[in-house]
Amino acid sequence: MFEQFSALPADPILGLLAEFRADDNPNKIDLGVGVYKDEAGHTAILQAVKEAETRLLRTEESKVYVGPAGTPGFFSTMSELVLGAGHPALTDNRVRGAQTPGGCGALRVLAEFANRAKQGATIWVSDPTWANHVPLLGYAGLNIETYPYYDRATSSLRFDEMYEALKKVPAGDLVLLHGCCHNPCGADLTREQWDLVTELALERGFTPFIDMAYQGFGEGLAEDAYGARVMASKLPEVIIAASCSKNFGLYRERVGLAMVVYANSAQADVGQSQLLSVIRGNYSMPPNHGGAIVETILTDAGLRANWESELSDMRERINSLRTGLVENLVSNGADGDFSFIQRQRGMFSFLGISPEQVARLKKEYSIYIVDSSRINVAGVSQANMQYLTSAIASVI
Ligand code: LMR
Repeated sequence: MFEQFSALPADPILGLLAEFRADDNPNKIDLGVGVYKDEAGHTAILQAVKEAETRLLRTEESKVYVGPAGTPGFFSTMSELVLGAGHPALTDNRVRGAQTPGGCGALRVLAEFANRAKQGATIWVSDPTWANHVPLLGYAGLNIETYPYYDRATSSLRFDEMYEALKKVPAGDLVLLHGCCHNPCGADLTREQWDLVTELALERGFTPFIDMAYQGFGEGLAEDAYGARVMASKLPEVIIAASCSKNFGLYRERVGLAMVVYANSAQADVGQSQLLSVIRGNYSMPPNHGGAIVETILTDAGLRANWESELSDMRERINSLRTGLVENLVSNGADGDFSFIQRQRGMFSFLGISPEQVARLKKEYSIYIVDSSRINVAGVSQANMQYLTSAIASVI
């Protein structure tokens, strides 16, 4: 039966990583896959994570099953991290959810959950959005439509057009929003814009589906969660997927959170039984280790303070690299206005160059960038800044 298959092209992001690893140019630079790197280009394990793992190794007494919702305590600590302790939706007891295998696991489980509530429901995603959103949501059975979001010509948000498009979204549809640090464009909604979209959701009756993959990488843990928090307090129903890959540096451990805000606690209990059944029918239950690390860090004041300080260091380094990139592009005579890089947040921005220029950077300089010209700013360092910005200037 398998002879009917034809081979698929490599994933646009993961395929680039494989090409980078095979390149023996000592000057090669990987600005592809979204992982944080330090000045030495290394994705180190956070100290708070190492310490939590050490404690877990010492204290763990059993490997018995944990259950579809994951390690006990993960959901309560993570829902407080996302929504903030004392959030009205939490005190009203109308939030439920589960630990998932990464943010991707959360997106997939929540998409299937939404599809159970409304078969073939339409979800509106930003143009552009993260390439993997489309299969994660689409394979679960949701119908995907797009709303305007980013203007490549001006490197800025198309908020008026987005708002006009969302005004026409019918009740019962879903709208995918990036909680912060938009992937791939780095341009986020302002607080006022989040407020406007929240009012629109209330008026129109669409359900926001927030993907929060980079909490803490933009302005701060609370600041980055503004949109999720305001929506969860004002709207009857919100779906939130969160990832611990970047802010805890737990990429390969696969830790995420699937969270649903319901109209009331009775509906929340019913909804949770559906969510757990979606999980049971997929992978039964998530792996424990990464979730236990997150729970250990968030429930220990000392570890939590260390983690928050490590997270601030990562954020500040990225933001200073953004400034450095703009300055060095200017000093190397790169044609164009790149000041938007400094205004945007998170790991990503579009350089705004053509696919041909992206291909030249790879061929002539071993600089790896996704075809769309999305760069992972965290892949830049003081050591490669000059090589990188002069190469960019030379291909423009
Ligand atoms: C990215 O966008 O590069 C990251 O979210 C990693 C991935 O899985 O694509």
